[in-house]
Amino acid sequence: MALADPALPDFKDCIDATEPNMTLINCCPPAASGIKDYVPSATTVNTRMPAQSVEVGSDYYNKYTDAIEKMKNLSPSDPRNFRQQANVHCAYCDGGYTLKGSPKLLYEIHNSWLFFPWHRWYVYFFEKICQNLIDDDTFTLPFWNWDAPQGMQIPSIYNSSVISPLYDCFRNPDHLPPTVINLDWSYDDVPVDPKLQIKYNLSTMYTQMITQSKTPNDFFGKAYRAGDDITTLDGAGQIEQTPHNHVHIWTGTAVDQSNPIDMGTFYSAARDPIFFAHHASVDRMWTIWLNNLGGSNYTDKDWLNAYFIFYNEEAKPVRVRIKDCLDTTKLGYKYEDVPIPWLDESA
Ligand code: C2O
Repeated sequence: MALADPALPDFKDCIDATEPNMTLINCCPPAASGIKDYVPSATTVNTRMPAQSVEVGSDYYNKYTDAIEKMKNLSPSDPRNFRQQANVHCAYCDGGYTLKGSPKLLYEIHNSWLFFPWHRWYVYFFEKICQNLIDDDTFTLPFWNWDAPQGMQIPSIYNSSVISPLYDCFRNPDHLPPTVINLDWSYDDVPVDPKLQIKYNLSTMYTQMITQSKTPNDFFGKAYRAGDDITTLDGAGQIEQTPHNHVHIWTGTAVDQSNPIDMGTFYSAARDPIFFAHHASVDRMWTIWLNNLGGSNYTDKDWLNAYFIFYNEEAKPVRVRIKDCLDTTKLGYKYEDVPIPWLDESA
């Protein structure tokens, strides 16, 4: 039997992606030509900070909103345009590409070991585009610190009552601040004392990051290679399942599950600017798992060599590989060293 290959998207054709209600949606990026390989080699390291520490109206807030506003105002055909960026997520996760070598199978970056590295690269380029638009290469995106009590609600910068480019009207109206998030939410608003909810959340974090994440397979998710059938792809890692998925639906879906849109469903999730803070937080869990919990990356060549294509800050298409995103300092960022309250929260 031939050796397996990495699971790679076939970029020759992008096809309409399929929404959950089976309607087709065109979220293909502009056709790319002249794709270049890209390996980052940052010389300075910027710090991503927790979103709850950002004040509406602060200098940082003004830069952030300026960047997102500029991104929203780019021409709709510019691959850096905010909607185009959201479409990148849609194309990669709702069947916009087929799996190279298996043209009947749709490509998917959830539910497998592609989840963490793909989203790391995706947030990386989004951040680069922000830097470029405001001409400040020290700018970083904030992370939604939902694993600590102070961060367990929608951060106020995303909920600003003045018209803000960080605001999204398609969020669950029952989950706006000061409602405490339920990191394990499943379409059910059970009234719980907020203090108790915080305790449940910390114990959810402990369970997912420590008790259940012993191996790369547990943490990152299962292998996904060329030839694997996506219809049976069920290899999500512990953090992808909980809290990642639950934070999405808690933010973007009504209790009756009517009309899930924006954060509540894949094709539109990245239309809500909070998506990128959520995914910075998911990404931070990867660094914590390696640095604080003794975890280790996969060493499988199919994982290391799998590649993705993104448009960079100059609107040029680049091909990047998983093996080149393993060290965030080479990507030019790290996370602020905030307390990790669940580390000793045995359930
Ligand atoms: Cu690609 Cu949070 O999902």
